[in-house]
Amino acid sequence: MVRVLVPVETVSGETRVAATPDTVKRYLAIGCKVAVESGAGQAAGFLDSQYSSSGAQIVPIGDSEAWSTADVLLCVQSPNQNALGKLKKGSVLFGLLSPYANSTLARALEKSSLSAIALELLPRISRAQSADALSSQANIAGYKSVLIAAAALDRYFPMLMTAAGTVQPARVLVLGAGVAGLQAVATARRLGAIVYVSDIRSAVKEQVESLGAKFIDPPSIEEKPSEVGGYAKQASEAFMVAQRKQLSDQLSESDVAICTAQVPGKKAPRLINHEMLNRMRSGSVVVDIAVAQGGNCAETLPGQTTVRNGVKLIGASDLPCSVPNHASSLYARNLLALLQPLIADGVLRLNLEDEMISSSLISHEGSIRFPDLLNNGGSN
Ligand code: NAI
Repeated sequence: MVRVLVPVETVSGETRVAATPDTVKRYLAIGCKVAVESGAGQAAGFLDSQYSSSGAQIVPIGDSEAWSTADVLLCVQSPNQNALGKLKKGSVLFGLLSPYANSTLARALEKSSLSAIALELLPRISRAQSADALSSQANIAGYKSVLIAAAALDRYFPMLMTAAGTVQPARVLVLGAGVAGLQAVATARRLGAIVYVSDIRSAVKEQVESLGAKFIDPPSIEEKPSEVGGYAKQASEAFMVAQRKQLSDQLSESDVAICTAQVPGKKAPRLINHEMLNRMRSGSVVVDIAVAQGGNCAETLPGQTTVRNGVKLIGASDLPCSVPNHASSLYARNLLALLQPLIADGVLRLNLEDEMISSSLISHEGSIRFPDLLNNGGSN
């Protein structure tokens, strides 16, 4: 029997939960016993009574028996070191654990001899798609970023022909066309905006165009940034200078900039600097969803909206938490898809020969597997 514990999330502002009443039923069906801390799903719209009806045991927050007997802890973000210390040796933590340069987590896992799977490190292979929590959450962020921009903008998004005259459509610049960026493009297009997109991976040009947006080809300088496993690698400073120069005119003509460009484990590329902001129209809006990684835009601050010469700068670091019900449902299904094949005959087995496990298992019974990544952020 695999004992699964679903704790109340403790990071401030976190509204999601790692299991829903629906996934609880599925864990029971594969031979697990599930304990859910009281109130764990409340902010996401899932009540204790719904978890109990699905067969979960509701336990008080921090219940020492539930923590010390759990084989598996399902979380969104990692609990703190004290809480991890209550787990038994060899328990496995599954979550979005922010592994890059997270030496505090490494120490806690080591100290309590825990295993841990960081969902951020799952490989982008087709078999892993149903467990891809980065994508399920980035999709939400891309969608919501556009709604926030549309609500903050001093203009309509669509073109409108009215008796009082014709209104031109808003012009939106999307920086980065990964999962969040493509969803932002689709959402802005649905609202009727004209959309321009910049990305350094030329492979996305076709995807961008199929959504009805215009792709801005990367600057043609000799040194091109490369990619690995579908992700962009960090661009050189010379490339970034050329890219900013290219984007400066675009931005001065845009009503909205949606910033989604990222490089895993690195500071987000700085695509909008102070001079570029000076050229933006008063009343325009920047939504920076890369703000937690340092931001694509100078002067955006996590969780804050500031106004600079009439330009609204919105640092939107935790958009999935603003759609907690669907964000949790999708995340919980990502976790279930990952765990289901690992559980057989009442036992959870971590097969280190499986690429999905070998690339995401950051600690095996307290032994840290990627010390450079956890302590320094790794190399790219
Ligand atoms: P991400 O969040 O790491 O980055 C977002 C975007 O920023 C990327 O498209 C990246 O190229 C872009 N970027 C980086 N530096 C930039 C710069 N200087 N200027 C402009 N853009 C810049 O990436 P995300 O969204 O997690 O995924 C990236 C890609 O991975 C997807 O587009 C897709 O091709 C692939 N993917 C594959 C999956 C699979 O096969 N199972 C599942 C999900 C994604």
